[in-house]
Amino acid sequence: MSAVFAVSGSPSERSRTSLLVHHVIERLSLTGFDAAHLAVRDLPAEDLLHGRADAPAVRAAVDAVALADGLIVATPLYKASYSGLLKTFLDLLPQSTLTGKTVLPLVTGGTRSHLLAIDYALRPVLVALGARHVVGGCFVLDRDIEPGAAGGVTLAAEAELRLFDVLDHFIEALPAAGASLAPSLP
Ligand SMILES: Cc1cc2nc3c(=O)[nH]c(=O)nc-3n(C[C@H](O)[C@H](O)[C@H](O)COP(=O)(O)O)c2cc1C
Repeated sequence: MSAVFAVSGSPSERSRTSLLVHHVIERLSLTGFDAAHLAVRDLPAEDLLHGRADAPAVRAAVDAVALADGLIVATPLYKASYSGLLKTFLDLLPQSTLTGKTVLPLVTGGTRSHLLAIDYALRPVLVALGARHVVGGCFVLDRDIEPGAAGGVTLAAEAELRLFDVLDHFIEALPAAGASLAPSLP
């Protein structure tokens, strides 16, 4: 089964973006994927700001990205773009880190007016890092994500449907899943 690594870039302690990713990771784990989540805010801030790619925690995070078959990149919308915190981490990835990986962008925001930021802001930087297969992303309004009991999350029904639809496409596009769908030669 493919390995999926998720990186979320909210500086907020009670991040809705993180909750959303947690929800997705839970779903992937239940389906049998080897799935893990890194909130960039948990990396040492000084290492991020000083661009220390060789700091142990940063190196471990970069290695986890490199080893994954699929990457989920999640961010809140800040000023009609992805967060600066996410960028501090993306800047530490070697140039072609995302080559051969399937990438799923997830974005949360306060208004639908900025949902195109997935395509004009986030997608170009993922492509610049080598990603050739960035599947259609998912934008979820902050008010549609509610913290639930025991660290869980409740999503508005419409958002949940869209999210799981996008997730199905992501799973289908993962390298291992793609191989199993290919017709076998006689
Ligand atoms: C500094 C700042 C800038 C924001 N800019 C935007 C924006 O341009 N467009 C938008 O839709 N939401 C914007 N928001 C709202 C957040 O994107 C939204 O509440 C998001 O879900 C927060 O995610 P988080 O809880 O993971 O931090 C902004 C919030 C903050 C704090």
